[in-house]
Amino acid sequence: MIPEPAPTVRELLAFYLEAGVDCTLAEEPIDRLAEIDAPPPSPRAAPPAEAPRPVAAPAVMRGEAAPAPDVAIASAREAARTAPTLEALRELMQNFEGCALKHTATRLVFADGNPQARIMFVGEAPGRDEDIEGLPFVGRSGKLLDLMLGAIGLNRTTAYIANVIPWRPPGNRTPTPQETQICLPFIQRQIELVNPDVLVTLGNPSTQTLLSTREGIMRTRGRWFDYDTGQRVIRALPTFHPAYLLRSPAYKRLAWQDLRAIAKVLTQGAV
Ligand code: URA
Repeated sequence: MIPEPAPTVRELLAFYLEAGVDCTLAEEPIDRLAEIDAPPPSPRAAPPAEAPRPVAAPAVMRGEAAPAPDVAIASAREAARTAPTLEALRELMQNFEGCALKHTATRLVFADGNPQARIMFVGEAPGRDEDIEGLPFVGRSGKLLDLMLGAIGLNRTTAYIANVIPWRPPGNRTPTPQETQICLPFIQRQIELVNPDVLVTLGNPSTQTLLSTREGIMRTRGRWFDYDTGQRVIRALPTFHPAYLLRSPAYKRLAWQDLRAIAKVLTQGAV
């Protein structure tokens, strides 16, 4: 048999890119296979002394073995419920270990914009640029979102922007339903704390998750929904995700209609 020629560096990089590996997570490579081959610690070795823990944080906050999804969901609910402020919520999410996406993402992408804003936009999940910068919607679709905001006189000082999932899924894959359910209590609490007058869900995943509908974005966009925080009912409008508009610019006309409806509610308070 004729051996395959070894791939060139260019071919290898193309292979990685195809597989979704499009950025480095650390300066030095880590040989995970060597970690597997390493001998287990000697049974006679004294166990390392454990520092006293002042507060008994739940396992999902301590970085112990990954919890079962239902445990992680329950823990996220409990943690999110107790966050009194956005800052506390951000810190709690930084320490939350119940979502595996955290371990492949570079950093938490919590939010951008003005927490006092009357309008909040929620996308699906950070992409590569957002993962690098730690801010939502800073890549190509973010540039279009900025233009959409500008078209109705808004910008990042008058709007608040976040995602349902705050960690980038590897290779921008679709988040699993479990990952979405684990992250849901956090975005729900974030909406409750920002307490905007208008909530705009960008694209299908955000709309279906937050507005509990199974209808697709072609049917839901431009239709007002009630979003109940438990404290108050907020008016919510689904519209197309800017990434979708970049791929299908013909739908910008409908997105413009949605933006005008949003502007009308913000200025006149009327739906
Ligand atoms: N797409 C999203 O849904 N969110 C971002 O932050 C960026 C791209």
